[in-house]
Amino acid sequence: MAVVVGTTVRTIDWDEGDAATGPAVAVIDQRALPGTFRVRRLATVDALVDAVADLTVRGAPALGAAGALGVALAVRRHPDDADRVRAEAERVAAVRPTAVNLRRGVERALARLDDGPGAVVAEACALLDEDEATNRRLGHRTADLVTQLCGDRPLRLLTHCNSGALAAVTWGTGLGAIRELAARGQVAEVLACETRPLLQGARLTVWELAQMGVAHRLLVDAAAASAMARGLVDAVVVGADRIAANGDTANKIGTYALACAAAHHGIPVLVVAPESTVDHTTASGAGIVVEERAPDEVRAVAGVPVAPPDTPVYNPAFDVTPAALLAAVVTESATFRHGAWARAALPA
Ligand code: MRU
Repeated sequence: MAVVVGTTVRTIDWDEGDAATGPAVAVIDQRALPGTFRVRRLATVDALVDAVADLTVRGAPALGAAGALGVALAVRRHPDDADRVRAEAERVAAVRPTAVNLRRGVERALARLDDGPGAVVAEACALLDEDEATNRRLGHRTADLVTQLCGDRPLRLLTHCNSGALAAVTWGTGLGAIRELAARGQVAEVLACETRPLLQGARLTVWELAQMGVAHRLLVDAAAASAMARGLVDAVVVGADRIAANGDTANKIGTYALACAAAHHGIPVLVVAPESTVDHTTASGAGIVVEERAPDEVRAVAGVPVAPPDTPVYNPAFDVTPAALLAAVVTESATFRHGAWARAALPA
């Protein structure tokens, strides 16, 4: 059977293992893509923390799963030491501060600690099991809204970073919505920004689009505004790492610049994310902590130095796009438009 991410294999999963191996968290190694497809078994919290830090596993919903499974791993290794489990859980939650799903995943699993290791593992696995239905629903809702905004016709969509199955457990958020639009025959082409410095667009989104059989072209981030000016973009569709109560949205660095250019050209920008990415305790984008990453990510491209070794670097992993620049934020159960959240009717 062909391995198709988002349909036949999960990006991140619990692996119970056997008496010899013990349990582990199984992850698709996103650093090896697109050249090599391999699954890594992370059997310790240390290994999981390293994999989150170095982006072996990445993307907001996938990080939520990593957080919950990190607690599951800790409780299975230290079943009689709740303090140790809590300390390990905090270590996992703190690795990447912007993507709120990571800490939420940790907290959800940790809340079952008093019920024993089995309950913690079951809660973590439940979070993973919910991912596909959530993503399919927000994809449907986004596709309906895009149709309303842009018409029922083949569209040219621009996306940034990777919000596909690789960024979730399955299916994807922003790219999941594009998958849904493609299934409806409404995608003429996807323009995928390469997404410097770590090239999640070039390495991961393009790989997923090829798997999906969706027409696409790769462009350098700096070409996006000119693509808009030349009429090549009908809508921008992206994911999110944290959405404040007022709709301000943290996503991969470069999203804000795309939104500024899109506003200039009257092109709608849609943010697509699960409710678990909405942080109603943070009033606005000003309260979102933006992760700064290592200088060498910018001084090199795919490991090849492109700047003098000690060049000072500014390397925020994310930026915050003001809600005023967004046509909508769409979750599985709500839509933020025109400055307010509207709850959706429950599915039949
Ligand atoms: O640094 P990354 O690769 O984890 O950043 C990921 C993004 O910015 C994605 O666009 C975001 O998590 C939405 S994915 C569902």
